[in-house]
Amino acid sequence: MDTAKFIARQVEEIKQTAGSGKTISALSGGVDSSVCTMLAARALGHKLKSIFIDDGLMREDEPKDVQKAFAALGVKVEIIDAKSEFFAALKGKLDPERKRKAFRNMFYSVFGRAVKKSGARFLIQGTIKADIIETKGGVKTQHNILEQIGIDPQKSYGFKLIEPLRELFKPDVRAVGRALGLPEKICQRMPFPGPGLACRVVGEVTPERVAIVRKATRIVEEELAVLKPFQAFAVLMNDQGTGVEKGKRKFGNIIIVRSVESQDALTAEPSPASWDVLRNVTQRILKEIPVVTRVAYEVTPKPPATIEYV
Ligand code: XMP
Repeated sequence: MDTAKFIARQVEEIKQTAGSGKTISALSGGVDSSVCTMLAARALGHKLKSIFIDDGLMREDEPKDVQKAFAALGVKVEIIDAKSEFFAALKGKLDPERKRKAFRNMFYSVFGRAVKKSGARFLIQGTIKADIIETKGGVKTQHNILEQIGIDPQKSYGFKLIEPLRELFKPDVRAVGRALGLPEKICQRMPFPGPGLACRVVGEVTPERVAIVRKATRIVEEELAVLKPFQAFAVLMNDQGTGVEKGKRKFGNIIIVRSVESQDALTAEPSPASWDVLRNVTQRILKEIPVVTRVAYEVTPKPPATIEYV
């Protein structure tokens, strides 16, 4: 792909579509939304307002880290604290698609409010080709896909969508990010799903359960970094496992460590991990998160499994 040409074309298209009004960029700190925000900032300058929704489902320190990284690039990011609204929407929901739907509705309602308040007409977001293919194919109703599942964003939430990356797969998105001057740390980031840690909590998503998987996620990312995986993360199961502490039985949580190799996320293979890596990650999770009694490494490819659990 000719990245320079792609950037020039998209910058022109964004300018044409958005016109002289305000546009909101939905930034999550992942590669796709970061690249999309940089493209939009190049096209619209101060007419772009970049918003990060703190939904309580992000990795440790994510909102502040993203704000700092973009400040260094000259892009001001506003953080909207919507943690309690998201947890209220997810309360009592166990079914994966019901959780996705609740997340999606809350996500676009919060953006709808921000768009209305700022007088903007457009929301620009980093949907990529794999997102569209999988939603159309029925694998899942990905949170950022609306038109393909019959939702008109204008009618439902009060804005039109601009999606400059919809024809690209992940490797091309990373290449565009590099050409736009995004730091390598952001371009190389592992994919992180829009609904965040909610995709990694089997069963009910509560602040307490998210806190467990958030701690485990940091440990997995640190310990598995040596594998340079496409994606590595922790999952909290809905069941419990018996453990023993100071000679007494105790019932605790079960964490799955998942690491996969992939090009486009449409298919994936489990990462071959050495015994040392598996032992270290297990020991750290058990020591640093005492409510966990069991850790297992997942070896299922996609298909038949998906990459995320929810
Ligand atoms: P699955 O689990 O379907 O995931 O094999 C394929 C890729 O998509 C990411 N993913 C999502 N990304 N919103 C997103 O922005 C979502 O709802 C979503 N669900 C999955 C996942 O992390 C993997 O890279």
